[in-house]
Amino acid sequence: MASIAGVEFEHYLPANTTGVQETAPRLSWKIVDAPKNFVQTGYEVELREYGLGSDVSLSTATVDSSSSHLVPWPFPNNKLHSRQRISVRIRIKDEHHVFGNWSEASHLEIGLLSRDDWVCQRITAPWAAELPGPNPEDLFRKGFHVSGSVEKARLYVTAQGVYEAEINGRIVGDQFLAPGWTTYSGRIQYQTYDVTANITLGVNCLGIRLAEGWFCGRLGWEGGHRNIWGPHPAIMAQLEVTYVDGTVQVAGTDESWRTAQGPVRLAEIYDGEKYNATLEIPAWSTPTLEEKSIDETKWAPVTVMPPIPDSITLVAGYGEPVRRVQVLKPAGPVIVTPSGKRIIDFGQNLVGNVRLKNVRAPKGHKITLSHAEVLENGELGTRPLRDCKAVDEYTARGDPAGETYEPRFTFHGFRYVQVDGWPGDLDTNSIEAVVCHTDMRPAGSFACSDDLLNKLYENVVWGMRGNFFYVPTDCPQRDERLGWTGDIALFVSTAVLIYHCHGMLRNWLIDLEIEQTILNGVPPMVSPNSTLADQKWCRKVPCAIWHDVTVIAPWTLYQETGDVAILAQQYRSMMTWMNVIPKNKTGATHLWDPRPFQLADWLDPAAPPDQPWKSHTDNKMMANMFLIQSLDLMAKISALLGKESESRHFTQESEAARDEFHDEYVTKNGRIVSDTQATYAVAICFNILKPEQRARAGERLVELVRKNNLRIATGFAGTPFLCEALAATGHVNVAYAMLLEKECPSWLYPVTMGATTMWERWDSMLPDGSINPGEMTSFNHYAFGAVAKFMYERLAGLQRVEPGWTRCRVAPAIGAEFTSASASHLTPNGTISCSWKTSVASTGVETLELDVSVPYGTTAEVVLPSEDGEHAEVVGAGNWSFRTPIRRDYEWPIPALPPKS
Ligand code: BGC
Repeated sequence: MASIAGVEFEHYLPANTTGVQETAPRLSWKIVDAPKNFVQTGYEVELREYGLGSDVSLSTATVDSSSSHLVPWPFPNNKLHSRQRISVRIRIKDEHHVFGNWSEASHLEIGLLSRDDWVCQRITAPWAAELPGPNPEDLFRKGFHVSGSVEKARLYVTAQGVYEAEINGRIVGDQFLAPGWTTYSGRIQYQTYDVTANITLGVNCLGIRLAEGWFCGRLGWEGGHRNIWGPHPAIMAQLEVTYVDGTVQVAGTDESWRTAQGPVRLAEIYDGEKYNATLEIPAWSTPTLEEKSIDETKWAPVTVMPPIPDSITLVAGYGEPVRRVQVLKPAGPVIVTPSGKRIIDFGQNLVGNVRLKNVRAPKGHKITLSHAEVLENGELGTRPLRDCKAVDEYTARGDPAGETYEPRFTFHGFRYVQVDGWPGDLDTNSIEAVVCHTDMRPAGSFACSDDLLNKLYENVVWGMRGNFFYVPTDCPQRDERLGWTGDIALFVSTAVLIYHCHGMLRNWLIDLEIEQTILNGVPPMVSPNSTLADQKWCRKVPCAIWHDVTVIAPWTLYQETGDVAILAQQYRSMMTWMNVIPKNKTGATHLWDPRPFQLADWLDPAAPPDQPWKSHTDNKMMANMFLIQSLDLMAKISALLGKESESRHFTQESEAARDEFHDEYVTKNGRIVSDTQATYAVAICFNILKPEQRARAGERLVELVRKNNLRIATGFAGTPFLCEALAATGHVNVAYAMLLEKECPSWLYPVTMGATTMWERWDSMLPDGSINPGEMTSFNHYAFGAVAKFMYERLAGLQRVEPGWTRCRVAPAIGAEFTSASASHLTPNGTISCSWKTSVASTGVETLELDVSVPYGTTAEVVLPSEDGEHAEVVGAGNWSFRTPIRRDYEWPIPALPPKS
């Protein structure tokens, strides 16, 4: 009999189910060890409630269904309520209607669902409104007495700003920069912590550090803005202690709390953190201080603020939190620069902070840490950071036993750190880098026989890690780090192959709609919209691709998970966007009005460094291809949601737009007036052309690529589609030639230059090692990394065919000199993987061996080369091996063509 590996709720990871907000969570499970003919014909769910020493069965439900992914909550009479703790276990019925064993129980706890659950008050420091900023952190504290046996203790916290809580001197939870970044004018997240183990009998103390964070710290380029969502930070916390007899004691923030300024003197996202250990207040969050009675000169009464308006919802949120996920040691000895500075190289461009250990320095001694992604002329290359200091400063308390420091209210994008003021010889054992990002579940892997491509894939993964930080950001190091909509629109279909990011992006999309409402339906360029106060940058002008994210991102999440709910959630946002796309009503055009400014194939390598929108590809034409894609997707999405008339409308619109597009831009034979790589790449992948034109367009694309020495000539818009367009029109080896090209612009050029993340520009670093003169130059932007999808799907050969991976295709495109490749993906049904390698026998015959592993509930069409073209076979769950002789009768290497040929 098959068994069940873990029952999961919604899209939550098992570690993140304390304090969720669904009252009827959907359930999923994976079926493992299924015998050959096994079919799930039904399931039984048991719902139990536990707490106060009891664990009772509330209900069971039996459902006849083969579904095991996001099945509806089967207990309509048991909607969950605030603070409820439940467990669920499941057993499934086989094809003979015989039940197997019960699964392990999975636990879930509901957070605070209603504003009425919050009995605490919003508090701030009395000086908060007076200080001009940037402000030091404020500490808040409150002692409380526990006088009996505790069954459970929960701490609920939210903040306008960022916070870290402590109970009795111990940090609570492992979230970094809680409560995270949302559109604070609409939604603020709160966290639920199980602090039962932190509470002791007698006097306890709850302490909270609070700093400005994104809420009121400086954000944005050209100086940016402060106080975007409010004038100063504030905190709301409530500790609920439940005794074994059921009585509940609450210690919530109110006028009885005390506040003092803490040792963090500067807590800026961009400029860094200054920590002065001589200003530490010993035992500030412990009862020891309480017993000594508070020094009223140090600890002031707090200011109670009016409640957060009801128009702002307090939400548990759907995304995983940012955590400290990895520690990296220095990659080599201390570097001494030509000017005599001491620099540590962590060997990896990363996002997070530097941790200092064993600091032995006199009291008041300062150590500074300056961060940068690259070196230039042997020194720290800080120019790309623009108006962002990225410097942390530690002032020692003078402890002879050694001190430790790690920033808590800032983060940096860096590979190198310059350490100034280290007392004595800098020992590499005293310093490490702490990697922080949204703590998502890894979704897949890729490897092949070319080491440089493996490094490229690794760089794509690191680029995603550094830029999935509560929201999907453009870059993590300079004075931006913002949720640029276009970047994720172009990367999202690659992102879902690397990490499970449904929760984080679902959360972000809710905010996107809130921002859209504020701008009368036009989506923001960045979300959360930190440009709102900025007349120059908050353009409120519809912008293709960037704003098409409203359609592209939910569609991609649906494709990845099969969860139609994301489409329903975002449908209004998509429709609003489709209705504000400016079309020339009088001319009855179905295309974009040609006036609005477009970013389109942003960062085309031919564009001048300081005018990245000046692509060789016609911007309006590119905007219109993305419009056609959005219309096509809207027709499908509307149909999936049962909105037939809308679906018909979008089908007609897309046909009309295609016709007009052809009249305006396409020749009968498939030339497109903007005759560039980006144009053909997108036109082919978006099915803009008729079949005969498409073949011709593929040939023209090959020609353009070969005339360009097999190098890339695309920016943001064209790059994700370039290799796929070549492969889809029968030119996979040309795609491979581009992929393997090392001269700039190419994907491997940065790798040969030592890159460890994806760069913003093809030539962020020039071949002579100098930094690109463009003021906008980052070494950690994910957009060009979108090519990893092609590597996964064509080189390794693993492709999703149906939403949720229920049907897949394994079709490795053997080409170039590749001798092996593999990919795996954790799908809703379990892991699917494929791995191929070739070997040449002494007879000279080359054989391809392919291993495929398919989880229960999934079918895979395996396509292999054969004598007469291709051989396809459909397989179900299990491990499968295939062998076939192959012939490499293709042209390789692909020759370049003279540019003028
Ligand atoms: C960001 C980009 C973004 C672009 C659009 C840049 O500064 O880093 O990735 O999409 O601006 O204007």
